[in-house]
Amino acid sequence: MAQKWTPNSWRSKPIIQVPDYPDKAALETVEQRLASYPPLVFAGEARDLKSHLADVAEGKAFLLQGGDCAESYAEHGADNIRDFFRVFLQMSVVLTYAAAKPVVKVGRIAGQFAKPRSSDTETKDDVTLPSYRGDIINGIEFNEASRIPDPERQIMAYRQSAATLNLIRAFAQGGYANLEHVHEWTLGFVKDNPASERYQQLADRIGETLRFMKAIGFSSDQYPRLRETDFYTSHEALLLGYEEAMTRTDSTSGDWYSTSGHMLWIGDRTRQPDHAHVEYFRGIKNPIGLKCGPSMTADGLLELCDALNPENEPGRLTLINRFGHEKVGEHLPGLIRAVEKEGKKVVWSCDPMHGNTISAGGFKTRPFDYVLSEVQQFFEIHKSEGTYAGGVHFEMTGKDVTECTGGAREVTEEDLGSRYHTHCDPRLNASQSLELAFLIAELLQEDRGVNGGVIAAE
Ligand code: PEP
Ligand code: CO
Repeated sequence: MAQKWTPNSWRSKPIIQVPDYPDKAALETVEQRLASYPPLVFAGEARDLKSHLADVAEGKAFLLQGGDCAESYAEHGADNIRDFFRVFLQMSVVLTYAAAKPVVKVGRIAGQFAKPRSSDTETKDDVTLPSYRGDIINGIEFNEASRIPDPERQIMAYRQSAATLNLIRAFAQGGYANLEHVHEWTLGFVKDNPASERYQQLADRIGETLRFMKAIGFSSDQYPRLRETDFYTSHEALLLGYEEAMTRTDSTSGDWYSTSGHMLWIGDRTRQPDHAHVEYFRGIKNPIGLKCGPSMTADGLLELCDALNPENEPGRLTLINRFGHEKVGEHLPGLIRAVEKEGKKVVWSCDPMHGNTISAGGFKTRPFDYVLSEVQQFFEIHKSEGTYAGGVHFEMTGKDVTECTGGAREVTEEDLGSRYHTHCDPRLNASQSLELAFLIAELLQEDRGVNGGVIAAE
């Protein structure tokens, strides 16, 4: 029998990857303040997302999840949010068209601030300092003062999340996401990309369809589904003191929900079954993700499925696979078979970023071909196992950064230094993101037995 869960029961378990705050009293004061602040999202929204993810688990919808590796205070601004949102909309239109299914849209945004690190320290020249752990914890500047964990940063992260979410809600519901604007989501610098040409063709076809629908009486004035979209937020719930403060009871069901984001996930480094993160996650009713890297065993996965989703509720648990293009073939089939054999209801999603990081020219980068190869293998493996490749999870931005190499508008290793802005892992830029969406669209169409059409390359 599992022990009683409370929002703070994680505090009695072993924990890793969280900072040691020097001023405990200041930390406590901040956590109390946060606990009195309004929720960022509502339980009802998290339930809606869970039911959309249940559709994904059943093969009736497709999940698109993506955004920054780490949101930062430096990159917070309307243009960044808008550019991210529009490339995300473009990708989701391409995928919806190809899959002929709803695409569930989940951003790594409005709360994605805390980072697990492979090393506790960072050394430059002869100086060794504590690692940067995300703007919610300490500063990226390489000096002693900025690397000290500062609880006030949690308040900043909360306020930035609220502002970001506010603008996203306005975009999603206020007309920006209207399908009639499908041509306008193209970004200027993406225009000279082959993916952009393909996008224009697709947008033309959608425009034609909308005109036809209008002619027979279905217009966006009467049908909100055409002028609005559902967009949800997600992040890795690593900093459990912050998460505890944002955990509230839902007045309609009496259940506990995280109100810091719609969907939260457990990172690959913090998924030990007897540790604090799994303890926290088992008690909240939100849809949750679990990162599965090469060290995940079939038995370990089943144990976590039982701990995190004891009622086997579809939509509750998304398994976010991140093996790397060289390892996915070795690891994924065994996990799929174990999950299938036990009848566990899960969403399978592919994160082709975190297993494909290499260093080149002094930068961490990810070659576009490795990313694509992992996604392709993910689809092939599910096809041969007879299971559903339910979604993808990317680190991406709407900006024209040079962080991942490759793509049709090629970023070379020499280019990496020119616009390398990420605060943590390298992200796909807008062109690479759209290009990848088209390549996934081809895989989705193949699954439906459709070939060619607007999705196919010339
Ligand atoms: C991440 O998603 O940024 C991350 C750290 O992933 P993982 O836990 O899979 O390494
Ligand atoms: Co990352």
